[in-house]
Amino acid sequence: MEQYGVGDDIDKVLISETQMQERLAQMAAEIDRDYAGRDLLLVGVLKGAIMVMADLSRKITIPVTMDWMAVSSYGSGTKSSGVVRILKDLDTDVAGRHVLIVEDIIDSGLTLSWLQKNLLTRGAASVEIATALRKPDAAKVEVNVRYLGFDIPNEFVVGYGLDYAENYRTLPFVGTLAEHVYNN
Ligand code: IMP
Ligand code: MG
Repeated sequence: MEQYGVGDDIDKVLISETQMQERLAQMAAEIDRDYAGRDLLLVGVLKGAIMVMADLSRKITIPVTMDWMAVSSYGSGTKSSGVVRILKDLDTDVAGRHVLIVEDIIDSGLTLSWLQKNLLTRGAASVEIATALRKPDAAKVEVNVRYLGFDIPNEFVVGYGLDYAENYRTLPFVGTLAEHVYNN
């Protein structure tokens, strides 16, 4: 852990850098196959999805374009409420486009189910979801994940784009935080 400059903040590694990259390569191959000959727009959800967008998009070999949204879900503490506010909208008109939403993690699924519906009402030809991680709670809302990296336990995780108070996003793996970080 020393090379990452996070001291003993990480309790355990859930998904290693190699595991993540191998899984993303498989997902990219499926995307290549499914969208061959179609016009594909990747929509990343800021900021958590930056790493998965960067890595997944470079493993996809068909031509794609990329756009970004920033959303904030009103909620208390760490649970989202399902009421979503757009902080940064797309630059692209999605009408008639095949859209693939690229996400870091689906927890309650509320943000994603809202976003998927929102993009469909704008007239997108299709709106599918690719996510690096999914937690068990995601099952509570209907979110159809087309491309899934890993199902993980119901724990708060950081790394690979995911943060705790804006820290740890740059770690190349996904891990859980040590107790002392929260109790600081
Ligand atoms: P949802 O609406 O509950 O699915 O919220 C998903 C968003 O909450 C993700 O896009 C993340 O930004 C954030 N999130 C959920 N779980 C975690 C976690 O374990 N660590 C860091 N961020 C998380
Ligand atoms: Mg996110």
